[in-house]
Amino acid sequence: MKDRYILAFETSCDETSVAVLKNEKELLSNVIASQIDSHKRFGGVVPEVASRHHVEVITACIEEALAEAGISDKEVTAVAVTYGPGLVGALLVGLAAAKSFAWAHQLPLIPVNHMAGHLMAAQSVTDLKFPLLALLVSGGHTELVYVSQAGDYKIVGETRDDAVGEAYDKIGRVMGLSYPAGREIDQLAHQGQDVYDFPRAMIKEDNLEFSFSGLKSAFINLYHNADQRGEELSQADLAASFQAAVLDILLAKTKKALVQYPVESLVVAGGVAANQGLRERLAAELGQHLEIIIPPLRLCGDNAGMIAYASVSEWNNGNVAGLDLNAKPSLAFEALEE
Ligand code: KG4
Ligand code: ZN
Repeated sequence: MKDRYILAFETSCDETSVAVLKNEKELLSNVIASQIDSHKRFGGVVPEVASRHHVEVITACIEEALAEAGISDKEVTAVAVTYGPGLVGALLVGLAAAKSFAWAHQLPLIPVNHMAGHLMAAQSVTDLKFPLLALLVSGGHTELVYVSQAGDYKIVGETRDDAVGEAYDKIGRVMGLSYPAGREIDQLAHQGQDVYDFPRAMIKEDNLEFSFSGLKSAFINLYHNADQRGEELSQADLAASFQAAVLDILLAKTKKALVQYPVESLVVAGGVAANQGLRERLAAELGQHLEIIIPPLRLCGDNAGMIAYASVSEWNNGNVAGLDLNAKPSLAFEALEE
């Protein structure tokens, strides 16, 4: 059989990325152009700036991805692209590039949900076995997803307010850390102690929902009150206490989901899956009971490689789009009907 190459595009937020996946399994290239430095001074992603950056670098990313993969544009077999969720202007740049490439080379265009991408990045670690449960934690999402088979994603629990990564970034801003703050808080947390008693919202409630806005507010209040009194709080202890609360919540709800949906593998993915504290606790508390699959660090943040992996089951399931494919900024998985 002829070799198959999927060319994948990801531009939903502040990373412009193009990847080449060979024969469904082998990621030959995964070029990621980050714009973080342009957004840092604003303390978050500025949508217009993001779109402009994508336009500036997308062509170079395609060329680099093909060159690194060692293939020509004529060898590509299919094109995959993130069509949501994300910033509409940012998504449109990737869509325009993907559609143009697909049209010029008369190739199928495979639409991919960004969150399916995060989840399926785990396919790079091992051949996923279904059914499985996934904890998806990123800057925009916190959700527990039941996957009965490849390509069938159903939400069983999610956050009512802030996403966990968003909470990290917001408290990081208050602490004077640069955006995105998750990684730095994670590092600080390892140097401190859990001495401030932050709330663990809904942890005892019998549902699979999360809430992080109360924790964020409690943190900000403590910080500001201390500031007004001229008191200096330990950044490391603050980070450790915040992270302990976050991890208690994530672990409790994941365990609860595993009782309700007994599966043999748990995928943990999304930007926050890079968190070392989370990885340690998952291994210690759940590692003996089931297989925990976490994508390697470079596939945890936004990248097109994960979109390529997720596109495989979409393509197998006949999910191919026309050139009228539009961006869906609030695209979401459906809830699982009991
Ligand atoms: O998945 P991602 O790259 O982008 C979205 O789709 O949102 O996730 C980015 C988020 C940011 O909020 C960032 O602070 C967080 O992931 N993050 C972390 C860590 N590394 C990145 N949060 C906690 N601990 C980390 N080590
Ligand atoms: Zn993401």
